[in-house]
Amino acid sequence: MRKLILFLFLIPFINCKKAPVIPTGEIAEKAMVVSAREEASKIGVEIMQKGGNAFDAMVATEMALAVAFPFAGNLGGGGFIVYRKADGAIGGLDYREKAPLSAHRDMYLDSLGEVIPNMSTVGATAIGVPGTVAGIIEVHKKHGSLTLEEILQPVIDLANKGVIVTEKQAKRIESYKERFIEVNGDSTKFAQGFQPGDTIKYPELAKTLTKIMNEGRDGFYKGETAQKLASFIQEKGGFITEEDLEKYKAKWREPVTFTYKDLKIISMSPPSSGGVTMNQMFKMMESHDIGQYDHNSAEAIQLFTEAARRAYADRNYFLGDPDFTDIPLDELLNQSYLEERFSDFSFDKATSSDSVSNGNVEIVESTETTHYSIVDSKGNAVSATTTLNGGYGSKLYSEELGIFLNNEMDDFSAKAGVPNMFGLIGAEANSIEPEKRMLSSMTPTIVEKDGSLYMVVGTPGGSTIINFVAQTILNVHEFDLSMQDAVNAPRFHHQWLPDIIMFETVGFSDELKTTLKQKGYNIFEGPARIGGKVDAIKVLPDGRLEGGADKRGDDKAVGY
Ligand code: GLY
Repeated sequence: MRKLILFLFLIPFINCKKAPVIPTGEIAEKAMVVSAREEASKIGVEIMQKGGNAFDAMVATEMALAVAFPFAGNLGGGGFIVYRKADGAIGGLDYREKAPLSAHRDMYLDSLGEVIPNMSTVGATAIGVPGTVAGIIEVHKKHGSLTLEEILQPVIDLANKGVIVTEKQAKRIESYKERFIEVNGDSTKFAQGFQPGDTIKYPELAKTLTKIMNEGRDGFYKGETAQKLASFIQEKGGFITEEDLEKYKAKWREPVTFTYKDLKIISMSPPSSGGVTMNQMFKMMESHDIGQYDHNSAEAIQLFTEAARRAYADRNYFLGDPDFTDIPLDELLNQSYLEERFSDFSFDKATSSDSVSNGNVEIVESTETTHYSIVDSKGNAVSATTTLNGGYGSKLYSEELGIFLNNEMDDFSAKAGVPNMFGLIGAEANSIEPEKRMLSSMTPTIVEKDGSLYMVVGTPGGSTIINFVAQTILNVHEFDLSMQDAVNAPRFHHQWLPDIIMFETVGFSDELKTTLKQKGYNIFEGPARIGGKVDAIKVLPDGRLEGGADKRGDDKAVGY
């Protein structure tokens, strides 16, 4: 009897292998797209069912988001992709906007050297040279397998047929109505107000897309469209010329890669800060084994926050467009440097950021951008994040071309030490120069485990993007959440300055916040709009795909 009791007692210790994680998201056997709208995910999947690869699907999904999700999907903005081919080859494409040729360091300052309110955020003066169309054409040219016609015709059909307004979209359009009118006048398409269930048709956008389908890059950057676009922006007081458009080129860049335990993480390199910042954070956390603490426990939050605090401080000081700024990448990613940087970390007490803000940082501008993840039936993966910067960008809408234009110039540091709309404080490395790309936080990421594709992940969210991508990876790998649960999990954010932790409204107890306050952390108590919308794919052990589509939006995983 005593032996039996002892045996029963030992059972939990005999089988100490972790229980398998039960997937809770959409499952697909072969291929999947997860994006901000079902219409866009479906078009991407249909392209793959027609024989297209993940890159063809990228082109279709990117353009379909401009139709179905004009809040952030775009032709008038820019973005980044990171890809991993089935054979393990990796790469990254930078189709980030650029400053126009006439831009200069102090263009957003008044005669006293103060930042002119709204000039880099609202209307034509905020627009950088758009890169998205160059991006899709470059992806298609290098990696596509179908014709542009096969890829873009379904998107053009969607634009003509129209897209049904969701409840969330109706609310968003309503909340921006005054800004639309202020920037565009009251006859603008988006000022009329839409109800959930209404259909919005985009015939002008369909025409712009048709020109791109027929003429490729030149259908946007030269000729009639370029003339219309440049003169429209200039009439509204902006700086983009036909020469700016003609000169724009997307650029292939080597991604940042690093190991974290048994993972290899592949993410975007500068002018995105995502890969470098995440690399620093993961390496600072690695030896502390965050997985031994409970998910979103005080200890896990401390460890993550202290790594983020240090990495964001470096991000803001050192990073910028590598074509203009010498970035000491080897030093920033050096193991000894990172160990030294994290050596004063203690669970007893918060480290203080250099100067502490008053904590009054309601983010009034929406932190929008949009991310989509794609895996095709051969195992090629594309992680793409694209943006107009703020919600609907500069709010300037070209009725003739059917596109919103970005307010990406605000991602430059208009004046060293003055925060941008995300509260990020920039330095000289990110100052404005003609044809320079503004620093980004977009973090399209692919994760390998044991040499195989494991996750495709990314999110919108301005300065919160880097933290939310990192938290999603940790949720899966350290805290054993399914892909969908990892996306659903409540998130928190710290970006060095202001020296505060922002928590998503639901999911963090008062008790937890009190514990952190007692250790010296400043907790943001206001309406922190920090949700992000992570759209991700995980390759399950049996090879099927699990989607993680963010329930905070209308996001949807579609697969087959
Ligand atoms: N506009 C947001 C970003 O690029 O980080």
